[in-house]
Amino acid sequence: MKAVILAGGQGTRLRPLTLKVPKPVVPIVNVPFLCYQLELLKKYNVDETILSVGYQPEKIESVLGQSNKLHYIVENVPLGTAGAYKNSESFLDGTTLVFNGDILCNFDLNKIIRFHQANSAIATIVLTQVGNPSSYGLVETTEDGRVTRFLEKPGLEDITCNTINAGCYVLEPEVLEMIPLGKNYSFEKSVFPDLLASGRAVYGYVAPGYWIDIGTPEKYLNAHLDILQRRFVPSVILPWEDSMPKLKPGANFLNSFISSSCAIGEKSQIFSSSINEGCRIGKRVIIDRSVIWSGVEIGDDTKIEGCVVGNSCQIGKNAVLSKTILGDNTVVLDNSQLEMSSK
Ligand code: GTP
Repeated sequence: MKAVILAGGQGTRLRPLTLKVPKPVVPIVNVPFLCYQLELLKKYNVDETILSVGYQPEKIESVLGQSNKLHYIVENVPLGTAGAYKNSESFLDGTTLVFNGDILCNFDLNKIIRFHQANSAIATIVLTQVGNPSSYGLVETTEDGRVTRFLEKPGLEDITCNTINAGCYVLEPEVLEMIPLGKNYSFEKSVFPDLLASGRAVYGYVAPGYWIDIGTPEKYLNAHLDILQRRFVPSVILPWEDSMPKLKPGANFLNSFISSSCAIGEKSQIFSSSINEGCRIGKRVIIDRSVIWSGVEIGDDTKIEGCVVGNSCQIGKNAVLSKTILGDNTVVLDNSQLEMSSK
């Protein structure tokens, strides 16, 4: 079976991080995001993957490289989720797996495909259960999994289920016939509601296991904490034992993944954080529940908590940063105090 990964969105909610690094390749624990999806597809013997890209495609290609099992399709204008799938039609030859390029999960793809085939579905939407259904678009099904209704961010009184679209589908080629070529078209807003209205067999498979979409800074950080605190073990093998930075006396780290090319100053403490290549951390620095990209310099006595720090940032001495997202190359002066205001 082939897979299409929808990876052409601009990732606006992850700005400023995605201004220079497109969301499909933002690092998750120092590994480009799509490597996690490609590894999952490899585990289930998916033959070929079509990457539908449009926003900064050359950066995605330079990170993931070329192979005869990976095809890039570049959109000149965004075609939307379904339009992007239609655009990859010439590469497809049957039942296809489609993934949003921003979901991290450990779904059993074999079980999903078997469910799809057993129901002779035209489309199977993988569903995941959430604790707070009111902030999502819900997908309601019968007990045997046939989709009955899509509810977009319902009020409390209208909530009938806790299952949401996980951004992963199994689709039959007939679905391609209802998508116009070269037009912006959406699975969620058009294709699935239209299939349902016309009485076609649309099923929802409630997948057990881990799922998160990394599309907001909060969820991007949470995905790290889930891996670093071992609540989620991804298919990608992370070389924990190689992650041994140059530590000065009294410096230590816990539940953290730090590139071996980093230098950590005396008495600095790092908890539940990932630090990418070539960072230089001063003395007595505290880094807690944060993600630090490559080439970052952090001065003595600075405290960083709940932050994402983009590539090549320079943070001075004795600064305090809390719940702050810094785009690449940001300079923070000595003694600064930064805390993201809650809207
Ligand atoms: P935001 O701007 O923060 O909403 O992020 P996004 O642009 O990635 O949009 P969204 O999270 O809704 O997209 C879900 C998935 O579909 C992501 O993996 C996107 O890359 C992908 N996607 C969204 N729109 C397009 C598109 O027009 N073309 C392609 N190829 N992929 C898309």
